Amino acid sequence: MKQFIVITAMGITISFTVFAGVIAFADSSDSGKEIYAENCSACHGDDGKGAFPGITPDFTSKKGPLSKSDKVLIKHITDGYESEGSQMEMPALGGNDELTDADVKKVLEYIRDNFQPK
Ligand code: HEC
Repeated sequence: MKQFIVITAMGITISFTVFAGVIAFADSSDSGKEIYAENCSACHGDDGKGAFPGITPDFTSKKGPLSKSDKVLIKHITDGYESEGSQMEMPALGGNDELTDADVKKVLEYIRDNFQPK
């Protein structure tokens, strides 16, 4: 719980309380980095190389998934994805159905900025 105290121009003191849960609910204000850390890095690793070698793809590889277009990747992140012969599927929205379209765009931007081979 967070308490806010506001003193207005007229000197009237107003205090109000907000439940932490309400603040945390504002998911779409999270940065791409936070969204990645909370929803993706458990499988894809902090370094984007994949936490399970041979099962999760290596984002830093030149022929890896980041060679695909934004349109394709946004669809695969949003709806989930399983390639042929894969041992594990990518869960829709990394399993967090509270992520919005804007969150998906932000997290993809973060992944491209940090892991895409230059
Ligand atoms: C439970 C593990 C898991 C989580 C959590 C997870 N992924 Fe994945 N992801 C995978 C696996 C496994 C694949 C490879 C699927 C395949 O090729 O069959 C994959 C593939 C991908 C791809 C490549 C898709 C393609 O077209 O080749 C992207 C991009 C991606 N994940 C992004 C994300 C993002 C963003 C998040 C967080 C919102 C996330 N993943 C969370 C397991 C996970």
